[in-house]
Order: sequence, then structure tokens, then C-alpha cells
Amino acid sequence: MTRVFVPRDAAALALGADAVAASLAGHAAVTRTGSRGLLWLEPMIEVETPQGRIAYGPVSARDVPELLSAGLLDGAPHRLRLGKPEDHPFLSRQTRFTFARCGITDPLSPEDYQGHNGLKGLRRALELGPARIVEEVTKSGLRGRGGAGFPTGIKWKTTADAAGEQKYIVCNADEGDSGTYADRMLMEGDPFALIEGMTIAAIAVGATKGFVYTRSEYPHAIATFNAALAIARREGVLGGNVLGSGHAFDIEQRVGAGAYVCGEETSLLDSLEGKRGQVRAKPPLPAHRGLFSRPTVVNNVITLASVPFVLAEGAEAYQGIGYGRSRGTMPIQLAGNVRYAGLFEAGFGLTLDEIVNDIGGGTRSGRPVRAVQVGGPLGAYFPPSLFDTLFDYEAFAAKDGLIGHGGVVVFDDTVDLATQARFAMEFCSVESCGKCTPCRIGSVRGMEVIDRIMAGDRVDMHLELLTDLCHTMKFGSLCALGGFIPYPVMSALTHFPEDFRALQKVAAE
Ligand SMILES: Cc1cc2nc3c(=O)[nH]c(=O)nc-3n(C[C@H](O)[C@H](O)[C@H](O)COP(=O)(O)O)c2cc1C
Ligand code: SF4
Repeated sequence: MTRVFVPRDAAALALGADAVAASLAGHAAVTRTGSRGLLWLEPMIEVETPQGRIAYGPVSARDVPELLSAGLLDGAPHRLRLGKPEDHPFLSRQTRFTFARCGITDPLSPEDYQGHNGLKGLRRALELGPARIVEEVTKSGLRGRGGAGFPTGIKWKTTADAAGEQKYIVCNADEGDSGTYADRMLMEGDPFALIEGMTIAAIAVGATKGFVYTRSEYPHAIATFNAALAIARREGVLGGNVLGSGHAFDIEQRVGAGAYVCGEETSLLDSLEGKRGQVRAKPPLPAHRGLFSRPTVVNNVITLASVPFVLAEGAEAYQGIGYGRSRGTMPIQLAGNVRYAGLFEAGFGLTLDEIVNDIGGGTRSGRPVRAVQVGGPLGAYFPPSLFDTLFDYEAFAAKDGLIGHGGVVVFDDTVDLATQARFAMEFCSVESCGKCTPCRIGSVRGMEVIDRIMAGDRVDMHLELLTDLCHTMKFGSLCALGGFIPYPVMSALTHFPEDFRALQKVAAE
């Protein structure tokens, strides 16, 4: 029977992929895969032909009989035929290091995984030994993809050098940033890559136990990852004797209860310990005193899933692409009002204009782009006049922004930036852990003062007050939730001042 690949990624499932798979049963051998990341074309199915895979999408169950009679199984022409996926401009322009297998392999097939370079990195890591693994990761220039961009090699070295019998690897899969879904896609589409990356980290620092903290809103990622853990144990990748090396390492998945602040690494550790997620003051760093007060590596899903490539292909291969101090690739996640929403993995250094207008195709509504928020709810709003900014940690920081976890949320000209600024303060007040005053109280005062500005009440005085409040929150907050909320607020005020003076103008007229 001809093989047809149908994604089982949550985005494809939401758009009817299970019904498509069911209507193909009996006509084709159906293999479920992750998503290639062209979300506007989901469910995107692929047929195996002598010329390679041919993609069709977006396919609904209703289209299947017509597709079959048009010659789907031979890759025949049809209005939904997209051609070879690798030739599609959204994919052909990408550099897929971390997402190389995503959408291609069966996520729960160890044979598929090994047939596509899986475990090559772990095998090399076992040959190199702890110190040289850390050296390789340091040389690759890999920085944390969770948001802060901290060099991974340094974090691992600190944990490796810390004294302690018991050490832990904690993977942050809380993925709370708006418009982001790279962690989810990876855990649903290539969970063994995360297991391999965590195992390499464990060998590097001398940890025997790992935890993955996954947000509760990801039921498919949770189920797929748990199934992958059971397979990895069966295959001898996890357990008392990792690939026969004598190293012991196992992983447990824990599910968070849905607080944004539990993505902050120290709150996450509190939550993992069964406490209410509240930020801990640093120092001590988690690398010295982390989970249950033991030395702990906390890394994001994408950071850890990038490690197998670094070890398999060598630090130079990873370090060789990128821009400035941002090395390797970043899975950029396009979301919001954008025509081609999806995951685009590329070396750092694209301009925001290329990302939004060229790759993303502008807005879905067809109206002009007015703003993009990059880096989740703590990221700045950028106007088109700043679209020459390069996608790079330092370039964004130089313009009072951040790239965070790589989310790019697009807005058209109907957006009101004063409302967005108020939303930022409201978000902070709802998600604040309550430990420090500038964030707990400041966010509520922030909402109130923006309400007054929006009502046209003594606008100049209240704008000054808002600026002062943002300054206090930025420099007085204990963590980046209260400390970075001024970025969306102040960028809205700086780049879109007219939205804060709308009622003042009406009053003057
Ligand atoms: C409020 C807040 C929320 C965060 N949420 C996440 C998250 O959902 N996922 C994540 O990986 N990092 C998140 N971070 C960053 C983590 O604190 C930490 O820097 C990261 O897990 C370290 O891993 P990395 O070095 O691999 O990026 C958050 C930080 C803050 C301040
Ligand atoms: S800034 Fe907010 S979230 Fe962070 S520690 Fe202070 S109160 Fe908690």
C-alpha cells in the first residue's frame, strides 16, 4: 500500500487531521508524523512516491474521496497539491538543525529516529566524556532559548563544578509566551531529541535524574512525551545503564497548573517541589542550589533539543551560522494577524522586515502591519520603522526589545497600543507571584493610570507618572516579570504616542 503521512501535531488535530487519517485508512498505509510547521496549510499530508514525498494541503476529510480519485496516491495534480515539501519556499529557505526530523518521522518510532541521525550526538558524547561535552557546547555558542539567552556551556560548567552527590536536569516546557509553540511542536513531533539532549546534559554535569515541567495546556505533548519516555527506557537510552555506558539517567514529566510565572526557573523549581510557584531570590543560582537544594541545570526544551545536533555534527557546524554573539539557529514562531503563520527555523540575523513581510506575507487581514510584539508578553512592540532590526539578542536589546523564545505576534492597523499597554499591566497583575512590591502593586497602579490616560484625564501628568512607575518596576522588581513589563508599555508609548492621546485630542476639538 502507498504510504501517506498525516500529522498528529495539536495544530493539525485542531483542524481535523484525525478525520483525514480515518478517511485514508483502507486506501493507504497511514503514518502519523509531527508538523512541518506550515500551520496555515494544516492538515498538510504527504504521499510517498518514487519521486519523493508530495504534499497536499490544507486537506479536510471531505476532500479525501476527490483527492483519491484524482490520483493522490500517485502524487497527481490537484488544486491542493503543493509539490515537494522541501521545495516549498517556506521550507526551502530554512536551516533546520533542531527541527530537522519534525514532520518527517514518526515521533514514536525509534527506528525512524536512528534512521535520521538520532542518537548520533549521545554516542559521541559518551566517547567524549563530561569535560569535553561541556567544551563542545561552549564552543558551539549555544545560548538558552527560553528567553534570557544565557550561554548554555557556562551554565553546564557551573553545575558540573558544583559539589554534590545528587544533581538534576530540569527541562522548562512551560512555554507561557504568547504566540509561541516551538516547545510543543518539538515534544509532539520529535520527543526523542529532547530525551537525547537531556541525557547528554546529564552525562556532562553528572546528573542521574531529570524532570520535564510541561504546561497543562499541552495534553498532546504530555501524552507523546510520556510515551517516548517509556520507549526510551525500553530501548536502553534511559535507565540504569544509558546505551550500555554505565551511566544512569531517567526522566520524569511533571505537569504545571498554568501560571505564567512558573516558567521563571526558580518558581518552576518551587512548583516542582510541590510548593506554590514563587520566585526565589538569586543567588544562590540553581546551578549551585536548585531542585531540592541540589545543583541543577534548568534549560528550555529548544536549548536541550539543539544539543544532539551540536554533538553529532560538531560545535563548528552549529557555530558557523548566526549573527554576532547569537550563534546557530532560532525557531521563529509567526503568530497573530499574519498570512503565513508557522515555525521558521533559521540562523540569527534576518531582519524583522524579512520575517514579517517576506516570510510571513504581511497580515492575514490584508490591512497594513502596524506593530509586532516580539518575545512574548514581556517583549516590546516594534513599528515598521524599526523593521530593519536584525533578529539577534543584542540588536533587539539595543532597541529596548528582546527576542525571548522567538515569538513574533503581528498586528494590523486596527490595533490600539494604549489598550495593549494596559493589557501588559493587567497581565502582570494577574500573573505576578506577589513576592515584590514594584510588580505586585505597581502593575495594578499601572492599569489604573493607563485607564486615566485613556479617559483623557490630565494626560501629560499621568504619562509622566506612568513613565516613572515603569522605571521603578524595571529597576526594583525581583524577576523579569515585573522587570520587563515596562518594555511593552514604554515601547507602545514611545512608538505609538498618538494612541495615548486619542481622547485628549477629542477634548481639545
Ligand atoms: C516570568 C518569566 C516566565 C518565563 N517563562 C519561561 C518559559 O515558559 N519557558 C522557558 O524556557 N523559560 C522561561 N523563562 C526563562 C527561565 O527563567 C530561564 O531563563 C530558562 O528556563 C533557562 O533556560 P535556557 O537557558 O535554556 O533558556 C521565564 C522567565 C520569566 C522571568
Ligand atoms: S517581579 Fe513579580 S513575579 Fe517577579 S518576583 Fe516580583 S512579584 Fe514575583
